[in-house]
Amino acid sequence: MSQSPPLFAVVLAGGKGTRMRSNRAKVLHTLCGVPMVNYAIEAITPLLPEKLLVVVGHQAEKVEAILPPEAEPVLQKEQLGTGDAVRVALAAIEEEEGILLVVNGDGPLISGRTLGELVERHRAAGVGATVLVAELPDPAGLGRVAEDAGVVRIVEEREASEAEREINLVNLGLYAFELPEIRDAIEEIGADNSDGELYLTDVLEIIGRRSRAVTYRLKDLEEANLVNDRSHLARAEEILRRRILDAHMRNGVTVRDPVSTHIEAGVEIGRDTVVLPGTFLRGDTKIGADCVIGPSTDLLDTVVEDGARVEHSVGRGAHVGPEASVGPYAYLRPGTLLGPEAKVGAYCEVKNTRVGARSKVPHLSYVGDAEIGAGANLGAGTITANYDGVKKSRTSIGDGVFTGINTNLIAPVTIGEGAYLGAGSVVNKNIPPGKLAVGMPARVIRNAPGKATAESAEAEDRKRPRTETEG
Ligand code: UD1
Ligand code: CA
Repeated sequence: MSQSPPLFAVVLAGGKGTRMRSNRAKVLHTLCGVPMVNYAIEAITPLLPEKLLVVVGHQAEKVEAILPPEAEPVLQKEQLGTGDAVRVALAAIEEEEGILLVVNGDGPLISGRTLGELVERHRAAGVGATVLVAELPDPAGLGRVAEDAGVVRIVEEREASEAEREINLVNLGLYAFELPEIRDAIEEIGADNSDGELYLTDVLEIIGRRSRAVTYRLKDLEEANLVNDRSHLARAEEILRRRILDAHMRNGVTVRDPVSTHIEAGVEIGRDTVVLPGTFLRGDTKIGADCVIGPSTDLLDTVVEDGARVEHSVGRGAHVGPEASVGPYAYLRPGTLLGPEAKVGAYCEVKNTRVGARSKVPHLSYVGDAEIGAGANLGAGTITANYDGVKKSRTSIGDGVFTGINTNLIAPVTIGEGAYLGAGSVVNKNIPPGKLAVGMPARVIRNAPGKATAESAEAEDRKRPRTETEG
């Protein structure tokens, strides 16, 4: 059995991306939440190359920081062009024999299948170089390709003659090279062109004359959506976004209005969940089965368990328990944990707080740094004063607590199980279980409704001053 020569891959990601008119390197711009360069890496990974190099240069540290572990960055100190980028990558490959797959970092729709076919075609043809091309109705901005008897010539639009500009066959920036051929040819190219850069494309003519270079045509033109400016970015993202939505719909998720629904690449959604218009599901968000999410909801890194409902709301690092209900107009901040069937309703903000099973924070509340037991009910406008301007303190609210409207809980404070707080009370001392407290600051006046035992009622009665009418 003959062993096929090893495959090495390099993603070119060192350029600035001038046409993006951005302070951020082009390959860092995201599509559906994933940086552009990571799409190229994801497409290469299934080919299992010996090495997966990424040429970094412009904002190298930022690009390195987002690379997956299988990618090995190599630094191109000065951005002298795509030819120089490949030269830098070659210096990181010791092997003499093998195939070098070169992938421009700005083609987020290029599939692993296409890359695999390019490499296979290259191996089978036994040529020095193979370049992926496509015939596009609008070739503007891309290198034009002319192929003749084993020689491929690519001319950049800037250098193209009027006749060459008429060519619709374009270079997609993906190549397979025999290592010895590319090593030799890369040393021969010069920068005598309009922007004084080393053009990788110039190697094709050199290799072609020595050992043949051929083109390979892209099958699915959707993959030819390369990103050079922000309108290309939007176009490519739109295609990726629709693919993500289609995958969820195939898995049994109802998406009411795909046009206005934005779901990032890493999001999971269970069966029979309905996603309503204007919804953004981002980052590490996970939605269970039988949920209703939206309309107009934006969840980032948020978990929603089965059967929950989240309407017109924002979640950031929150966890919504099964059958819980959120919104309309709730803001769940990091560390929020809603238990089963809990409710956070209109105009409520919750942060770093555990809300127990079936507990309700239904209207106009801020609850931060708190622990709420099961079956509690916070009245409209209940506020935890968790911050005294210097430090944050916690509020503990026991099972079955009931707070009246406009209750202020001055942390640190504990409200005992089953206690009641009267409307407008300002609580700055712990309230024992089962007591009703009122006022400002709130003081205990008697047993909470329904908590009075015969014994304790009698004791309260004895303490009470007699009135004139009482004998
Ligand atoms: C390149 C091709 C062009 C092709 C097009 C497809 C050349 C000379 N031209 O042009 O024929 O149609 O891609 O997209 O190659 N990069 C570096 N270091 C550098 C310069 C660029 O790493 O010094 C990286 C960029 O980050 C980018 C890729 O190489 O990911 C392509 O660079 P770009 O400037 O976009 O090349 P184009 O002008 O589009
Ligand atoms: Ca480009």
